[in-house]
Amino acid sequence: MSTLWIGTSWKMNKTLAEARAWAQGLRDHLGDAAPAGVQPFVIPSFTATTAVAGVLGTDSPVLLGVQNAHWEDAGAWTGEVSVPQAKDAGAQIVEIGHSERREHFGETVETTRRKVAAALRHGLTPLLCIGESLEVKDASGSAEFILEQASGALTGLTAQELARVVIAYEPIWAIGEKGRPATVSELVEPFAALGDVYGGAVTGLLYGGSVNLDNAADLLDIEHVTGLFVGRTAWQLKGYLELLRIAEAHAAR
Ligand code: PGA
Repeated sequence: MSTLWIGTSWKMNKTLAEARAWAQGLRDHLGDAAPAGVQPFVIPSFTATTAVAGVLGTDSPVLLGVQNAHWEDAGAWTGEVSVPQAKDAGAQIVEIGHSERREHFGETVETTRRKVAAALRHGLTPLLCIGESLEVKDASGSAEFILEQASGALTGLTAQELARVVIAYEPIWAIGEKGRPATVSELVEPFAALGDVYGGAVTGLLYGGSVNLDNAADLLDIEHVTGLFVGRTAWQLKGYLELLRIAEAHAAR
């Protein structure tokens, strides 16, 4: 049974005080060990990266990430942050290609490919997000589209490099306030398609989009799902701790 990756991106939320309080609460709860069979991770805004790293401490079982990073190591790229800078601030994961970045900030398959390469080059874990719109799902189904997004971003990687990648399938229609939770039956086919190509070849195949305390256990039951990537439900520490508990119980079965 694979380790279950259970993590949250805070998107553009939380002050430093709020970020520190969440991280301190998590640290107090976990101590220096992750729940058995579970890999926790948290992805704050850039401004809170070092603060959260400081609170969690260097021997933390919780992995820390950034929500984006540029593909170049340094240079004249105003407003951007590089992978070496993210690493310097304490990040171990780089989230790449979230649908909000594809929709609002011009992220393309090509930029996700370059960012995956940059993360790997510097020893960080690329967390590649893929997902289709409702229009695509209704017109031609999810599988072909998300496989194209994934293969475009992961093209040319060696088996060893691919083994360090985490993929999060997050259908756009299931994300955020305007989204609706995907049903288990809607997710079986896309995960079967992803599992065929990437099952066992990557570190994890995560599901994301309106994960909540009621559907988390069922989502983890889907074949090939090895974790959850969570927004709103995990922004309150209580919700995140409950998700960790659900995952630990699942891992123990
Ligand atoms: P949500 O966000 O859990 O609030 O729907 C998911 C995501 O964007 O990763």
